[in-house]
Amino acid sequence: MAEPNDWREETALVHVGRTEGETNAVRTVAPPLQRASTVLLERAEALYASDRPTYGRQSLAVHDALRAGLNALEGASHTELFSSGLAAIAGALLAVLKPNDRIAVCDSVYNPTRRLCDTLLARFGVSTRYFAPRAPVSDIFAGEDLALVVLESPGSLTFEMQDVAVIAEAARARGARSLIDNTYGAGVLFKPLSLGVDLSVQSLTKYVCGHADVFLGSVSVRDPELAAALTAHVLQTGQSAAPDDVYQAVRGLRTLATRLARHEANGREVADWLAARPEVARVLHPARRDFPDHALWARDFRGANGLFSFVLQGGGPRQAHAFLNALSLFGLGFSWGGYESLAILCDPQIRRTAAPWRAEGPLIRLHVGLEDPADLVQDLERGLRAWREA
Ligand SMILES: Cc1ncc(COP(=O)(O)O)c(C=O)c1O
Repeated sequence: MAEPNDWREETALVHVGRTEGETNAVRTVAPPLQRASTVLLERAEALYASDRPTYGRQSLAVHDALRAGLNALEGASHTELFSSGLAAIAGALLAVLKPNDRIAVCDSVYNPTRRLCDTLLARFGVSTRYFAPRAPVSDIFAGEDLALVVLESPGSLTFEMQDVAVIAEAARARGARSLIDNTYGAGVLFKPLSLGVDLSVQSLTKYVCGHADVFLGSVSVRDPELAAALTAHVLQTGQSAAPDDVYQAVRGLRTLATRLARHEANGREVADWLAARPEVARVLHPARRDFPDHALWARDFRGANGLFSFVLQGGGPRQAHAFLNALSLFGLGFSWGGYESLAILCDPQIRRTAAPWRAEGPLIRLHVGLEDPADLVQDLERGLRAWREA
């Protein structure tokens, strides 16, 4: 074959930027960002017999960097990446469950997790029973031979918490696995694997990426058998995570703890202000002493984040919409964990069967961002005025 200097124009264009030999010739603070499906090998023999990566799916330097960071955060030995948090939840469930398994799922779980259990898992012969978020262990297992218990603590709308260590231990004693959606804890505030939970799942879309512009998810484990099951699932189903997105998550890890601390401080200030308002019946914030599960939070968590809810003192959807529509700084939108403040009405997405949700009025969830809390409070003041006048 002709050398590069002899290439005709089209050949040269096709090979612009092609790397030769070791790619990371200069040392940088951040990992090299390569975009690749094809990985070039030096010798034909290596195509089918290499201990180095042979395909770009999940085996580039950024993937390794993110997995290592999440292993350190979660106290895990193995992490698999998924294209979103919900994909990670689905991946974890499908990797460990089989037909005829029975699982118990917390009633306050993220609604799409519930939909997954009631549809896809049901279709594959897995049956789901929901338990009240504050149920005692005996009610969670209810004498059944369970394959898996699914927790979310605190829940992302109503914030009830579970005694995670006690439930994980009880699951293990009965030969069941335990899984938690650890998106609230973000790996920094809560360490479920150290309390005996088998699988810790995160939507990295939220605080890890932190800028409301990336979808990504992770599942972290300690047990080698679970690690092998997850890896097999990822290979079988072709899960991939785009290098640019993974890079954003690695970048997000660097400021995660700092951002969380500011989200917590701002959130607490706003929550305290709301709690003192006559228009507000209750504030649901685990770090507040008046929250029913505050003792669990104080025992198990290193801090809170910027997410919490409050119940308006009466009214219906019309009044709740008047409140939300009067806000100008809080955006009206789903998701959380970004730098910006958001507000939603929760009631339409609360689906509970084990412990019905009852409240004095509409449930509003806030994500408190990195803005100055004095401005956020002014915005909420406008909202509460609109609620009164509606
Ligand atoms: C608690 C919780 N878990 C999982 C997810 C799903 O994450 P993703 O949007 O990355 O699929 C969300 C998203 O809102 C969530 O709030």
